[in-house]
Amino acid sequence: MQELAGKHIVLGLTGGIACYKSAEFCRLLVKSGATVQVVMTEAAAQFITPVTMQALSGRPVYTSQWDVRELNNMPHINLSREADAIVLAPASADFIARLVQGRSDELLSLMCLARPMDRVPLLIAPAMNREMWSHPATQRNLRQVDADGALVLGVGNGWQACGETGDGRMLEADQLLDEVIAQFQPKVLAGQHVVVTAGPTFEALDPIRGITNHSSGKMGFAIARAARDAGAEVTLVAGPVHLPTPRGVRRVDVLSAQQMLEATLHSVRTASIFVATAAVADWRPAAHSQQKIKKDGTGKPPMLQFVENEDILLTVAQGARAQGGQLFCVGFAAESENLAEHAKAKRERKGIPLLVGNIGPLTFGQDHNSLLLVDAKGVRELPRAPKLTLARELVAEIAARLPAGLHP
Ligand code: CTP
Repeated sequence: MQELAGKHIVLGLTGGIACYKSAEFCRLLVKSGATVQVVMTEAAAQFITPVTMQALSGRPVYTSQWDVRELNNMPHINLSREADAIVLAPASADFIARLVQGRSDELLSLMCLARPMDRVPLLIAPAMNREMWSHPATQRNLRQVDADGALVLGVGNGWQACGETGDGRMLEADQLLDEVIAQFQPKVLAGQHVVVTAGPTFEALDPIRGITNHSSGKMGFAIARAARDAGAEVTLVAGPVHLPTPRGVRRVDVLSAQQMLEATLHSVRTASIFVATAAVADWRPAAHSQQKIKKDGTGKPPMLQFVENEDILLTVAQGARAQGGQLFCVGFAAESENLAEHAKAKRERKGIPLLVGNIGPLTFGQDHNSLLLVDAKGVRELPRAPKLTLARELVAEIAARLPAGLHP
């Protein structure tokens, strides 16, 4: 997906061993469709050569404010005016301190100071030793650059090049890419708290077995990410899936439908939007055997009894209505035939403003899908596309339908 097509990113490198990750980050930016202009401090060039960064970005690197290639001899003005965003990765402790003071005695800090603040966001990916990271001076400086309008991206935790373990690692290249992409998404859900259920549930029969379904959770995770990118606070109630948590999203892992119901009821108390994408098991075994159910030698299978699980979406929507609260509920319908008909009926049965239909066997586990949006006015198709693209479109559709009181 070329999510950064048409965007021009100025990538600033300062002195730190994390510069080795900037090479990969630069590649990912280019692969996502961005044009990338690299600017490096003298210290950064101790860690990675401008030759490497030129080869990956396809453009000569800028390292000096006295660069004669610029006809007006003002690279700090020209580079910052061309940018759609400036990303400092890695941003060293020293460089962040320099930003706080508005220093400008070399090209990168000069360019950051000259940045048009109203239209060129500055993203900062710090990278340093854990002691340097937790030092009050660094934390004070980070608060100040944040207050001055930069977006501080946070750090990872783990093994550091110095041999110590802790906070201060630069985020990985793919995480940085996600942050840059998020920066360009319209903040249509700013101020909202969105709860999303995702994935299958697992209904245990005994300690070894249970019943579940083919849901991969990909659509729900994509919606959680899209909602977060749109500025919302997001809680993701996830059944058993092997997917990474989108950055900035609070995840609650559950196994059974009953656990999902409990976690959801707790989370929606403070929510304004609820999106139920989970493929909740409709039934659970009536009894859960403490020990493995064994074959009894007769050749006859055990007689299993099932009871129906509570409908989470229905319960949440009814509860919200009963309390007169403003919770905008969106349901999904996984069907195998007659999609429009079933989806319309399901929307009415669940008493919700918006229901999204899809054909289960065509979407489970896939990265692409097509959706049918059903509301009181009628039906609209979102044609086959990557799930993240559909999730972003759905978020825009939800934002457009929010009742007046829910707008920030
Ligand atoms: N849902 C839920 N809790 C359940 C069952 C379904 O929250 N116990 C939600 C799903 O997350 C989805 C919507 O209800 O948003 C519709 O789910 P689906 O499985 O398509 O339909 P069902 O309500 O189970 O109806 P049917 O089995 O008749 O298709």
